[in-house]
Amino acid sequence: MIEVRALCNGEFDVLDAVFDGLSAESRFRRFHAPVQGLTAGTRRVLAAVDGHRHVAVAAFADGRPVGIARLVADDAGRCDLGIEVVDDVQRSGVGARLLRAVAALAAAAGHRVLEAEVLSTNRAALRLVFSVFPDATAFPDGITTRLVAALPAADAVALPVGVVACAA
Ligand SMILES: CC(C)(COP(=O)(O)OP(=O)(O)OC[C@H]1O[C@@H](n2cnc3c(N)ncnc32)[C@H](O)[C@@H]1OP(=O)(O)O)[C@@H](O)C(=O)NCCC(=O)NCCS
Repeated sequence: MIEVRALCNGEFDVLDAVFDGLSAESRFRRFHAPVQGLTAGTRRVLAAVDGHRHVAVAAFADGRPVGIARLVADDAGRCDLGIEVVDDVQRSGVGARLLRAVAALAAAAGHRVLEAEVLSTNRAALRLVFSVFPDATAFPDGITTRLVAALPAADAVALPVGVVACAA
């Protein structure tokens, strides 16, 4: 059974388990570079979830971490998506559940615009974003494409069952 919950500050074990389950190709698609391992600095940044500027959710298959989605906001109120699902669980709807959940958390935190910078060849990511946000706009720019979607107003959003924000 797949469960989705908020990822809280400092959950390095979840980060590491999901990263370990990504193939070289998935890592390249996620980080836009041939990443073989996460540096200490990157792990710190990815684990520094504060529930406001940086919100994140994780998916678990019978307790095993299988995916993470995060949104990190800038000063202009836009937030940038990072999402990954381990290879052996891809194409089973987990990415869409994660994206809906993290978007709800970000909207509840007051963010209004989601952006995703994806490789233009990354059909899975493009399809994922349009399946959850059919009104998103794509701005192709050579090897990358920027996707922009509006998030609902904070008072119009319901968190998916089981997804509660982490305690401050
Ligand atoms: C992108 C990613 C998160 C999608 O996760 P997922 O769990 O496989 O996605 P889902 O099963 O929820 O599918 C969502 C939609 O994308 C489509 N999709 C998924 N993988 C696809 C693929 N390889 N090719 C084409 N469409 C694909 C699904 O059919 C579905 O569309 P639909 O609702 O219109 O049928 C996953 O492929 C991944 O982790 N890739 C590596 C990291 C990455 O690319 N991150 C994005 C950049 S930050």
